[in-house]
This record gives sequence, C-alpha cells and structure tokens, in this order.
Amino acid sequence: MDPLRQQWICIIDFGSQYTQLIARRIREIGVYCEIHSAVAYDINESDCPPSAVILSGGPQSAGQQHSLSITASIFDLGVPVLGICYGMQRMVQQLGGVVQAAPLGEFGHVRMHLQNDHPLFAHIDAHKTEYTVWMSHGDHVITLPPGFTTIAASDDTPIAGIAHEHKPLYGLQFHPEVTHTEHGSDILRNFVLHIAGCHPHWQAAGIVEDMIKTLRTRLGEDRVLLALSGGVDSAVAGQLLHRAIGKQLHCVLVDNGLLRLHEADQVIAVFDGLGVVVQRVNAQEEFMTALHGVTDPEQKRTIIGHTFIEVFERTAQQLSNVRWLAQGTIYSDVIESATGVHNAAHTIKSHHNVGGLPERMSLKLVEPLRNLFKDEVRNIGRELGMPDELLDRHPFPGPGLGVRILGQVTAQTADILRQADDIFMRVLHEAGWLAQVSQAFAVFLPVNSVGVTGDHRRYAPVIALRAVVSEDFMTASAAPVPHDVLSAAARQIVNSLPGVSRVVYDITDKPPATIEWE
Ligand code: XMP
Repeated sequence: MDPLRQQWICIIDFGSQYTQLIARRIREIGVYCEIHSAVAYDINESDCPPSAVILSGGPQSAGQQHSLSITASIFDLGVPVLGICYGMQRMVQQLGGVVQAAPLGEFGHVRMHLQNDHPLFAHIDAHKTEYTVWMSHGDHVITLPPGFTTIAASDDTPIAGIAHEHKPLYGLQFHPEVTHTEHGSDILRNFVLHIAGCHPHWQAAGIVEDMIKTLRTRLGEDRVLLALSGGVDSAVAGQLLHRAIGKQLHCVLVDNGLLRLHEADQVIAVFDGLGVVVQRVNAQEEFMTALHGVTDPEQKRTIIGHTFIEVFERTAQQLSNVRWLAQGTIYSDVIESATGVHNAAHTIKSHHNVGGLPERMSLKLVEPLRNLFKDEVRNIGRELGMPDELLDRHPFPGPGLGVRILGQVTAQTADILRQADDIFMRVLHEAGWLAQVSQAFAVFLPVNSVGVTGDHRRYAPVIALRAVVSEDFMTASAAPVPHDVLSAAARQIVNSLPGVSRVVYDITDKPPATIEWE
C-alpha cells in the first residue's frame, strides 16, 4: 500500500481559491489528504479508497445546467462526505434538493447559529451556539433533499448546514477552512477524526524512511539527474535521493544568469559539506539569448523552463545510463499552476517546474516532494540532518530573477538586480529583520526616473523592494519593515549602483497582488 495513503482524505476540487487551505487544515490536524479535480478524478478507480471525501467550493452555480457535477455513486460509498459551499449545493442538487440564486449573496463575516450537539460541532463549546463564520456565496439551498435536516442557519441563509439522518453526508454553506471562521479547524477536526475515524498520525518526517525505500525500489540501478536551483525544495529532494541511491544521483546546478549573488557557489559548498558532488553548468549566455526581446511573463517562464530542460538533456546525454530527471516540485506548485488535475481553477501563473517534460525527452520524471507542502518539506530536511541555514532560506522561484526583472531580461539588468537584492538582504539581516519575514527580495522596474547625485542628473531605472509575511505563501501581508531600515537599503542601493535612480517599497498584500511581481 502507498505509505502516504494508509488513511487519507480525498478533497474533490471544484475550483475554489480556498481548496488548498482545506488541504492545509487537514494536514495540520495530522491526517494525510490529496486534492483531485472534479473534472478528471474517478473515485471508483482509486486503488486506496479514501477514509472520507470533502467537496470544495467553486466559482460555478450549482443550479446551472452545465455546472460541474460529481459521480453520484460517491454518496453511496458509505464513506463520510462533507460538501463545502458549492460542494454542499452540488450534493443537494444531485440528491434531489433545490438550489437557487440568493436575492443578495453573502460575502464576509456572518453570525451563524450551529446545532452544537451535532457531531460536526461537538467538542468545541457545549454552551455556545452562535459563531462568526466566513461566507462567500451567491446561491443558496431552498429545499433539502430527502433524508436531510438543517444543522446550521444564519438570518439570511436558513439552510447553511445540513446532515443526512442515516448516511454520513454533511454540508456547510460557510467555509470552515478559512481562519475567519471561528473554530473552523475544530469543525474539520470533528469531521476527519470523529466522523471519518482517522488517527492524527500523519507527519511528513515520519515517512522519510518509507520514501527512501520507495525511491530505491522505483529507481533500481538507474542514474538520476537532479537540477538544484538554490532553493529549499530541490535541496531536500537531493538529500532524499542521495540517501536512497547514493552515487547514482548526479546533481547539476545550472547557472542561468538569473541566480542571486554568489548563490551557485554557496549551494555547491553546502552540498559538498553533505557529501554530494555538484556539477556546475554555465549557461548564462544560452538563457539570455533565448530571452532576448521577450517581455511577457508567461512566455518568459515557458522559455526559462524549456531552456532548463534543453540544458539538462544535453548534460544527461554526456553521462551514461541516466534515465531519470528529478525535480523539487512541491504540492503548492502543482495546485497553483492549475494544470491537468486542477483545471477547474483559474491559472494565476504557471510555475515552470510543473507540467511535465516534452514528449521527445527520453528521461522519466521523479518528483519525491510532489505531494508535500513547504513546511512538510522543511521537516523532512530536518529529519535528514540538513542545516537550518539552508532549510530556513526564503523561497526562490524556479525562473529566478527572470520574473523579478519586469519586461525584457538582459545580463546587465540581472547584474544590477543581483547587487540591489544583496544589499537589501544584508541591511535586513543586520537590522534583525531577515528572519522575521517569510520572503524578501528586490525587483527591477524598467522605467527610467530622474534623480540627482551630487551635481549630476541621473535618469535610470527603479528598484522595488518587497518583504512579506506569510504562513503558506497562498496569502501574504506586506511586512512592516521599519522606515529607517528601508531608508538605509534605499541609500546604499542608489549610492552604489549608478544604474538605479530610486527605490520604492511594495506595500500590497496577496491577494490582491501576488508575491512575485510577474
Ligand atoms: P506568487 O508570486 O504566486 O508566489 O504569489 C508564491 C510563492 O511561489 C514562489 N514562486 C515560484 N516558485 N517556480 C517556483 O518554484 C515558480 O515559477 C514560482 N513563481 C512564484 C514565490 O517566490 C512565492 O514564494
């Protein structure tokens, strides 16, 4: 049996922007879960049946003819099913109830009356019946399907929580996965532990030995080529593979000209310390040529991704018996890219390391961390004895500085940005702020502005500084870095880089912005 799926929750994704949050909450409870697309997944074909199913929300209208549906047999499997928002409406619609557009949608905080002796709301507070919850819906249930009763209601939505009298079927109009819902995690915990009967034993670090064994069996005597990016994910993937197959692993670090200052040297030194030899491939010119004249962010990502693959392919051909390409893809890359399994959600940006390999490529793909979130990857790294300074590094996007130089990328702009970024990191570090933010970096803006240095006019591009605080990088707040720290960074950047006229600080949260500028 798949070591991950001894007990697991299957989350069926109808395209909600909150689906990943459901997965995070379930794993925080200590139970393994996976997200599968409502479009492509057939639960009857799963070789490891889930312990329970959660139907996510989604942007569609359950009452409309072509809205996404779910295999009806899911409701007869005997496994508990919890529908959230659209997921509940879909369940109602398919089981014979009625869903209609609400006269006024409900968005934001709402006071909700919960039937607190119901198993879904038990173990919270026996004396409390009113909770603040997060609503986000334009439709509502007006008639229950046969066999269901109401277990939650608000002033505007009298049917806001439902349960079947005999079958383990439940629905919530509000979003327990969102932190704005009071005791939302407790409600999910009740569903997963008390109703579905799962044990809270899942821990990423606990499956390291199983992962190593599985990798060993899968890879046999084959050699594996791993691309190290300088980030945490590929480094942890590298350590796992090194433990699994030792010298059969060949690590490559492609210097694409889009890495941070001294990054290639630092990564090679760390891996050297861990007993892993890394081959450095200088491909700066190749990347710059491929990116010449390209300004569209998605096109740049695609070009960077393809050029990476070409360089790997060439490197692999020079080695004998390489059959696999390893990548440090993690779960949020898979979900946010919304390719393949998650095509019900809108693609925000395509993370270049997801989406498979070109058909002509003769290497198979191994992605040992594909089902894990960032914090779980870090825990695995700790279990493998990797140093904190590597594991606690801020995330760095696969396309590197390529998505931090707005518009066209050149070797010269990459150099300016590298220096500015390094200054910002050093100033943050000296002020004790680097460890307080989740991610910080500089961005190159290709707009000239006028400045004055001494008696000279300067007409040069702008650098934006960005520092965010985030738990999961799905949402983030601009970090309140003190004015004197920002001002020290601005002074040093403009004084030491003649190619920069001024420095600005980005104060936009995610959403509405994303963390990276492209
Ligand atoms: P956004 O910009 O989507 O970023 O808010 C969320 C997190 O993902 C990182 N990021 C990437 N990581 N390949 C990666 O490996 C990519 O193409 C990519 N784009 C963004 C970003 O740095 C942030 O931590």
